[in-house]
Amino acid sequence: MRFLAYIFFLVTTYAHVIPHKRHSSRDKFLKLSFKKTHKGNTTDKILFKRGTSEFELINQSTFYSVDLDIGTPIQSVTVLLDTGSSDLWITGYDNPYCSSNGGTTSSIDCSIYGTFNKRLSSTFHDNETSFSITYADETFAKGTWGQDVLSIGGVDISGVSFAVADNTDSQVGVLGIGFEALETTAGATGNFDDPYTYPNLPVVLKNNGVIETVAYCLYLDSADASEGSILFGGVDKNKYSDDLYTIPIINIYENYPKPISITVTLQGLGISSSVNDETITASQIPVLLDSGTTLTYFPSSYVALIAEALGATYVSSGFYELDCPSADDDREFVFDFGGFHITAPLSSFIIKPDSPQDICLLGVVAQSGSSGILGDLFLTHAYVVYDLENYEVSIAQASYNTDEEDIKAIGSTVPNAVKASGYTNTWSGGSSYVSGGNIFTLSDTIKASSTTAAPSSTTKVPSVNTVSTLLGTPEQSSETFSTTTDCTTGDILGDLLCFFSRFS
Ligand SMILES: *[C@@H]1O[C@H](CO)[C@@H](O)[C@H](O)[C@H]1NC(C)=O
Ligand SMILES: *[C@@H]1O[C@H](CO)[C@@H](O)[C@H](O)[C@H]1NC(C)=O
Ligand SMILES: *[C@@H]1O[C@H](CO)[C@@H](O)[C@H](O)[C@H]1NC(C)=O
Repeated sequence: MRFLAYIFFLVTTYAHVIPHKRHSSRDKFLKLSFKKTHKGNTTDKILFKRGTSEFELINQSTFYSVDLDIGTPIQSVTVLLDTGSSDLWITGYDNPYCSSNGGTTSSIDCSIYGTFNKRLSSTFHDNETSFSITYADETFAKGTWGQDVLSIGGVDISGVSFAVADNTDSQVGVLGIGFEALETTAGATGNFDDPYTYPNLPVVLKNNGVIETVAYCLYLDSADASEGSILFGGVDKNKYSDDLYTIPIINIYENYPKPISITVTLQGLGISSSVNDETITASQIPVLLDSGTTLTYFPSSYVALIAEALGATYVSSGFYELDCPSADDDREFVFDFGGFHITAPLSSFIIKPDSPQDICLLGVVAQSGSSGILGDLFLTHAYVVYDLENYEVSIAQASYNTDEEDIKAIGSTVPNAVKASGYTNTWSGGSSYVSGGNIFTLSDTIKASSTTAAPSSTTKVPSVNTVSTLLGTPEQSSETFSTTTDCTTGDILGDLLCFFSRFS
């Protein structure tokens, strides 16, 4: 998750969890619905200068969240659902940044998403270990780990550890559902002598017998829908069209034996319309699938290829501008994951400022490093099964046609998923992107990719020190990025902390 306060898109939320009935006792899954809400506050309003004119973007923020019931008696808090991190933390009642506690220079209204007072809960167990996380926008959360009676959508998940942040300038807590290896306790931040992991939500659901496999599907529904859903342990065949294709989650960090982030290989990108199909690039690139990020990010040289194809020009801060496409513009982005495509209308990636009216910004943004992030603008068009147990992801084109469900539990395999033909043809290092190739002849996809990727001796496997760069910070060379965290301090601990912050 990236809390993009320093740009104008906050990835934010408030929501409801609606428990859904189990279909039968043998079908093990748990479906939770959540509301997507526009924050709609002036804090989202960011002026974006272009020459003498200014872009004004207001009320673009949405985020996906769930409600938790904690303690005895119950206290309710709302947290942001994030595939890009792995810990659960909530705001403590005594957080000095809350305006209700007198606040500070940057006080926040803590009543919106709720706080937790552990002293009022008779069942709270303090783990007496500290928790600390810093986010890309330089917000932070510090506190202590604990456990308590805890439920989500009426389902008891009391085994899930959570941190109570008694010191945070972030308005909303986070429910990270990524790999255990990415937990702050696991040492990715480098400040633990004794790294360890603990069962986070998806693992506890399996341990408690609610689901059979540590896997879940995220369905964001259409862009204008007010709700999305997460289905733990199951796949809903009615939420996608065509086939569900499986590809491996890849490990882009040499110091880890297994993948720690939900990163897959994007094998090519094109633009398709009723009159033309154009391949932008058939170069491979690792991309993080992150529900906690709104926009799409690629390395600057990769975005440059996209901008060229669209006739977009660089503005600043990694952003490109273009003439706002007309209402009948039918161009689509075509994402090639190795033998299958996910399409998404260009209009989904267009940010319309409130002013000026004729110039739009591209929601595909340049960042440093050699990997990308596919956030909600992309994920809205994809139905994604995150199979953390088998280090695989299955993807299909999302379908918004019906509210009817056709849910099957995920057992040892993902129901109805087939291996993508490009399954084994994944990113193997390197970060040079070339235009051309042809992703539109699917049988040619594999060939195109393998000739442009795997660049001989220049192939670099990232070390821990470059992890932050890989996950990407916004364009450092841009003159206007003032609040970017520099992750290449040369100090390993600093870099690792910074690295972790990329997942916020
Ligand atoms: C923000 O946008 C949403 C959805 O478009 C709309 O319902 C809401 O009224 C807007 N809020 C403000 C303050 O403009
Ligand atoms: C937005 O502003 C309104 C009015 O100022 C306030 O009532 C509301 O709580 C704020 N919402 C958020 C999410 O900050
Ligand atoms: C907190 O304590 C419980 C019980 O001893 C333990 O199982 C859990 O792993 C601990 N959580 C963390 C985050 O250390």
